Amino acid sequence: MAKIQLTKNTIAIAALGLLALGALVSWVRQPTPHPQPHGPAEIDVATSDYIEREIQRRMHASLLTLNKELALQVGKVYPPTEYRNAGERKKILVTGGAGFVGSHLVDALMAQGHEVTVVDNFYTGRRQNIEHWVGHPNFQLIVHDVQEPIFLQVDQIYHLASPASPPHYQHNPIKTIKTNAVGTLNMLGLARRVKAEFLLASTSEVYGDPEVHPQPESYWGHVNPIGPRACYDEGKRVAETMAVAYQQQEQVSIHIARIFNTFGPRMHPNDGRVVSNFIIQALQGKPITIYGEGQQTRSFQYVSDLVSGLMKLMNSNVSVPVNLGNPDEYSILDFATFVRDEVASDAAIAFMPASRDDPQRRKPDILRAEQLLGWTPQVPVREGIHKTIEYFRRELRLDMSLNALELPRSDKKSPGSGATGPKRKLNNAAQWSDVDPRILPRTAVTEGEFVVPKDDEEAA
Ligand SMILES: NC(=O)c1ccc[n+]([C@@H]2O[C@H](COP(=O)([O-])OP(=O)(O)OC[C@H]3O[C@@H](n4cnc5c(N)ncnc54)[C@H](O)[C@@H]3O)[C@@H](O)[C@H]2O)c1
Repeated sequence: MAKIQLTKNTIAIAALGLLALGALVSWVRQPTPHPQPHGPAEIDVATSDYIEREIQRRMHASLLTLNKELALQVGKVYPPTEYRNAGERKKILVTGGAGFVGSHLVDALMAQGHEVTVVDNFYTGRRQNIEHWVGHPNFQLIVHDVQEPIFLQVDQIYHLASPASPPHYQHNPIKTIKTNAVGTLNMLGLARRVKAEFLLASTSEVYGDPEVHPQPESYWGHVNPIGPRACYDEGKRVAETMAVAYQQQEQVSIHIARIFNTFGPRMHPNDGRVVSNFIIQALQGKPITIYGEGQQTRSFQYVSDLVSGLMKLMNSNVSVPVNLGNPDEYSILDFATFVRDEVASDAAIAFMPASRDDPQRRKPDILRAEQLLGWTPQVPVREGIHKTIEYFRRELRLDMSLNALELPRSDKKSPGSGATGPKRKLNNAAQWSDVDPRILPRTAVTEGEFVVPKDDEEAA
């Protein structure tokens, strides 16, 4: 049912804004005063036209912003949700719920009629990913950094909070380690206190540059503990170790998902993952960049398959790690050509020097997920790629039209008001929550432009 909620403040602000703009326009429309011999108030016709055009332009932009604000409050229509009685309805915490995967998981849990709380510091997540639920009685958003403890009463915890793409997690390696180590410790502590089921979003990166192919869960991995990817790889490995320790010592019910490369709508356009990079470059007709010779392999799963795997795992009694990925394997060069053809682009392919510690082969062995969860990926890569291409097409169009209108945007920060590079020091949750993700990996780029960051060809 549509929810109507128009606050007095919003109406007052809207009315005042329109009155002020109206007054300005009528002032400019007044006939130009007759030239006074010594008066300073002379405005010629060209200037008056210019001012009038400028006011109209700004009024248009303000009205658009105002409309958006009002639309959020008047007649907000939420996506459909099932009804569940109190006995069947679970209280579910999703850390990192404003991110790419987290927001799709939130959609699925909300659709099932559960009460969902998102804890996110917006380090790499975006409010727009979950905006459609804000205000819903079953939904709650808490802006919080998981490095700090939090006390909530919940039945299940999906712990996804962590930057996931290489440019994001390498941007501040110490923060990445702390999020995965201290953050996971805090969430396991919460699970122990309130006896909640705990699911860790781990990664295929725990296998490092694997010597076994495809990778089964029994493989211990081949990780460089001091390489550029270690902050993430080792962070996730210690997170798994902590989960198992809490299970054995404190009887916390745990689940560990080892997630392989995942793609789909709501991927961050600037996150430097191979799928987003290739699609954006192909759509812009820019050279598609491959690091190395392109013979390294990856396999890609569509996000809805991952979400169904995560939910099956959470609601199972499986506590051993489980690979969730699509075994459909591509060389990076073949994948670049495939994406270019699907976009119908004539972009060139550019070869760049190989990245350090880039895994050469990556393909999940998903026998365990099949046998223990009855899970296999359902969405063919081509179908998923089409949906993702459409999403990026819309994002690029929106970005262009926002720039054309010069609307205020969250990432158009004035100098000094936001993060400008990896050297800045931000030490607490409140400060981090102010950092807009779009500028995190971008230190020397034009604002408002989608810029594909250097990719080391790995999604997680
Ligand atoms: N997408 C993939 O291909 C993939 C592959 C393997 C593993 N994973 C794992 O899945 C999870 C989600 O990945 P994603 O692709 O959605 O990444 P994402 O960057 O889009 O989402 C991560 C979310 O966590 C939030 N976050 C980061 N640090 C936080 C902190 N300290 N406190 C609170 N919130 C914080 C971010 O703001 C963001 O909303 C991650 O744990 C990632 O390691 C993803």
